[in-house]
Amino acid sequence: PVSERVADLIGRMTLPEKVGQMLQLSGMDGVDHLVRELHVGSILHTSPERIDEANALVSRTRLGIPLLVAEDCIHGHSFWKGATIYPTQLGMAATWDPELVERVARATAVEVAATGIHWTFSPVLCITRDLRWGRVSETFGEDPFLIGELASAMVRGYQGEGLTDPTAILATAKHFAGYSETQGGRDASEADLSRRKLRSWFLPPFERVAREGCRSFMLGYQSIDGVPITVNDWLLNDVLRGEWGYTGTLVTDWDNVGRMVWEQLVCADYTEAAAKAVRAGNDVVMTTPQFFEGALQAVAEGTLDEADIDAAVRRVLTLKFELGLFENPRHPDPERQAAVVGSAAHAELNLEVARRSLVLLRNDGTLPLGGGFSAGADGRAVAGDDAAPRTVALVGPNVDDPHTQLGDWAGASGQTDWLLPDGHPREMTETVLDGFRAVAPEGWTVTHARGAEILTVGPDPEGEFFPDGQPRPDVVIPAEPDEALIAEAVAAAEAADHVVAVVGDRIELVGESRSTATLELVGGQVALLDALAATGKPLVVVLLSSKPLVLPPSALNAAAVVYAFNPGMRGGRALAELLLGLIEPTGRLPLSFARHAGQQPTYYNQVRGQHGTRYADLTQSPAFAFGEGLSYTTVEYRDLEVLTPVLEAEDTVRARVTLANTGERPALETVQLYVSDTVTSVTWAAKELKGYRQVRLAPGETVTVSLELAAADCTLVDAAGNRVVEPGAFELLVGPSSRDEALLRAGFTIKG
Ligand code: IFM
Repeated sequence: PVSERVADLIGRMTLPEKVGQMLQLSGMDGVDHLVRELHVGSILHTSPERIDEANALVSRTRLGIPLLVAEDCIHGHSFWKGATIYPTQLGMAATWDPELVERVARATAVEVAATGIHWTFSPVLCITRDLRWGRVSETFGEDPFLIGELASAMVRGYQGEGLTDPTAILATAKHFAGYSETQGGRDASEADLSRRKLRSWFLPPFERVAREGCRSFMLGYQSIDGVPITVNDWLLNDVLRGEWGYTGTLVTDWDNVGRMVWEQLVCADYTEAAAKAVRAGNDVVMTTPQFFEGALQAVAEGTLDEADIDAAVRRVLTLKFELGLFENPRHPDPERQAAVVGSAAHAELNLEVARRSLVLLRNDGTLPLGGGFSAGADGRAVAGDDAAPRTVALVGPNVDDPHTQLGDWAGASGQTDWLLPDGHPREMTETVLDGFRAVAPEGWTVTHARGAEILTVGPDPEGEFFPDGQPRPDVVIPAEPDEALIAEAVAAAEAADHVVAVVGDRIELVGESRSTATLELVGGQVALLDALAATGKPLVVVLLSSKPLVLPPSALNAAAVVYAFNPGMRGGRALAELLLGLIEPTGRLPLSFARHAGQQPTYYNQVRGQHGTRYADLTQSPAFAFGEGLSYTTVEYRDLEVLTPVLEAEDTVRARVTLANTGERPALETVQLYVSDTVTSVTWAAKELKGYRQVRLAPGETVTVSLELAAADCTLVDAAGNRVVEPGAFELLVGPSSRDEALLRAGFTIKG
């Protein structure tokens, strides 16, 4: 059994070899020193050549313990030229489809495993709170239930049938926990969270994947109540390993152990930091090379027990055995790479997800353009005999920007240029311009005008050096509106039959340490939209951005608005298909849009009882709410009926509702089921998503949809921090979004 093999190995290891197993370092600057001197057990962010070199070195060490090779493969294999990049996690969340998300994770694992990587730092289970946070696009949005559904699917997809399957990779639930509860949206700020608040909203998705067998958890950067998460004994030991029975590995975030010394100033030196980190239950210490000497010194001084190191090493080695690395170290396999990395099947799946993720937020009938088309055998729109050729003007800075289209954690992004100097091949990404050229009807003209710049990147006007003398990185400088670009765009719009503006953010405004102070469209984009609106032509606005932005009136009142997220390599094509009506809009928002940055946070499931439900100068209602998304048809909800009006806590709430497609096009409707607990012993959310069903409806079709919900899921977290069902009256709310006015209501009672 694995436990015996692990015990045998630990019995033969020296203390430095054990400490090395706990270290994970980047191999970019060479691996020789890492393997020979630090006995490193794991590497990350490294090139194919370095992986080969490190594996060869390790195989010649005294015990030959195989390496764990890790990478941030977040929405596809982010660090490999030619690999498939899907919509970001936020875009995938808009599909509300766990089965599809599982297939993406499976396909990603197949690509990743072929490249000699065993471990991905995905999925993110953080709950989006403040939209100014730079990492919103990495989340599944704002709702714990939806996050749990999709994260669970993603973990299944990565870990496959079992870890010994050579195409399985380790999933990582991150960032444990509460990292997204930022202050002012700033990354890695102190998270102001009580244990009850953690249990109420932040922990449930993590608990779910821990219990379902996710084999790795990563910490965030935040501190809670003065304690860096790296040494939060309650969360790591009492909750994760204790209550939830988690036996997998715990990895720190980037230099978390070092940060306690040089950033948070809660440890005097690396010896103290290493001792505290090990005692708190961390198994893998990411990118703190000083941990090696620190841990050895702490054992020598008697401030750290070797037994605590053994416990961590036991978990690391167990994983290596579970992955079967001792029998098959899973080195990069060029033959398999040629067959699976960026394969045609994965490109097809990529297109499928992108199609499903696009959210139609507003439409006065302008979409689909020209009344809609059907697709020919080659995928191109087929115009009827009587349809005159038309001109589409594609305007805006994100019409043809492959970097922003791919989003964060993609080899092409500025962030990872250091890894892939020549980036993802431009030709692998179908931008919106490429998409329209590929699918617009034969004979149509597609014109393009940039219309506005978003930003430039340059030296920080506040000075070139940090106080400690380190050079400051370049900063984002918003562009000014450019009259010549606007005039060119207006001319293109005026000469066209259809006008599509593609605006949004840019990769430099997204990611770790890249939170934004505002949510407005940056640079010349608002001036561009205003000028386009002033032409009087029906304007279609596509928001291609990492997160919901605040839209100006010219966009909010446009003929149509589509949110496209960072839709991945094939996103431009999916978007062209949607606007031309070759496919139906099916995406639903996994998070709310703010009307103003000052409205933060805007999530739907806020605790009730705040009589400041509006600001003196602005409503608190979002511009677009969680769950919203239109179809090209209309679907009516009626006759919600609870079939079990009174039930016991062990029973199932059964209900039905009738849906009618009252339009002329098919729909994929996401029927959302919320619960409201009428009177609660503590303040609680007015409603919470507890389930949903996706239902296909042909034009004119009426169906009755059955809904079920375990009464045991109608819980809250009481004042003592326990998750309980409080018997009494509840309401079931069913409809197409979280907006009160969109929901039908019916009562039920859970008996005491
Ligand atoms: O996995 C990431 C994490 O999400 C943020 N910090 C760096 C890690 C490794 O790249």
